[in-house]
Amino acid sequence: MKELIKKLTEAYGPSGSEEQVMDIVKAELKDSVDSFEIDKMGSLIATKKGNGAKAMLAAHADEIGLIITHIDKEGFLRFSSVGGVSTNRLDGMRVVFAHGLVGTIGLEKSGNSMDKMYIDIGVTKKEEAQEKVNIGDFAVFRQDCVDMGNRMIAKAMDDRIGCVVLVETAKRLKNSPNEVYFAFTVQEEVGCRGAGTSAYALEPDIGIAVDVTRTGDTPEARTMEVSLGKGPAIKVRDSSVIAHPKLRSYLVETAKELDMPYQLEVLESGGTDAGPIQRSRGGVPAGVISIPTRYVHSPSEMIDIGDVEGCVKLLVAALQKDLHEAGF
Ligand code: CO
Ligand code: ZN
Repeated sequence: MKELIKKLTEAYGPSGSEEQVMDIVKAELKDSVDSFEIDKMGSLIATKKGNGAKAMLAAHADEIGLIITHIDKEGFLRFSSVGGVSTNRLDGMRVVFAHGLVGTIGLEKSGNSMDKMYIDIGVTKKEEAQEKVNIGDFAVFRQDCVDMGNRMIAKAMDDRIGCVVLVETAKRLKNSPNEVYFAFTVQEEVGCRGAGTSAYALEPDIGIAVDVTRTGDTPEARTMEVSLGKGPAIKVRDSSVIAHPKLRSYLVETAKELDMPYQLEVLESGGTDAGPIQRSRGGVPAGVISIPTRYVHSPSEMIDIGDVEGCVKLLVAALQKDLHEAGF
């Protein structure tokens, strides 16, 4: 699993350019699912067929990034954000473009807002820069994934770690009575766009998003009940969704049956794919299993392997039971 975490977090995939991630997932799942489909927005749907209830799992394939807005006459690139990039983490960061070009972020002497920053790609003239990049090109953080033992840090754990959970769940789920859709969605970071259209097309009986959530266990952290290493977090609410009470209790009951650690999550700001899934068509009972993650949206997001294992275990058990019998 750690190898897959490394491969997926190091892949390039800002919102709208998720193809590399989809290719890795497809190769990984080719012997474990019945079919693949890339839907019209670009989300990858891997299906395990069944005759019972239809369950949609969603993990977003995209990551936050930057987009080039202007190239000045000395070849410095001005940029804007794609998703929630916080500027105080940018000075000195290296970024990489789709075709492997690397640049470093510099800062003017006054202020540290994004409009005072630029990307230096090591050229001296606009024309020289234009041979390498164009207005509208996307870049992501350039950071390798580090294995610390029980914990790992990488860029884009949000939400490649959710993609890993879906892949592992698909591999381990055997003879489920339900039909299960593993949706690797596009464009979550710019407003949960891909999950809504996928849910509309799939018409699931339940939807579960698998995504990261922040923790409150670091020095002087903002209050948050979730900690790293204390098990998967079953969401109660975030800004996009109030988890369907029956689905939430079903997940809690399943965790209790397994006698495994879990946490309840109330996230004050931030949304997930569960929002648009819940509101598609006439409504879908939707919930979220979150992977506790420190430093969300930084180039070094930290997860605990035990939490990731816990998410897989919980999902496999929840999907192994007959969801129609459970009342969905
Ligand atoms: Co995010
Ligand atoms: Zn996310």
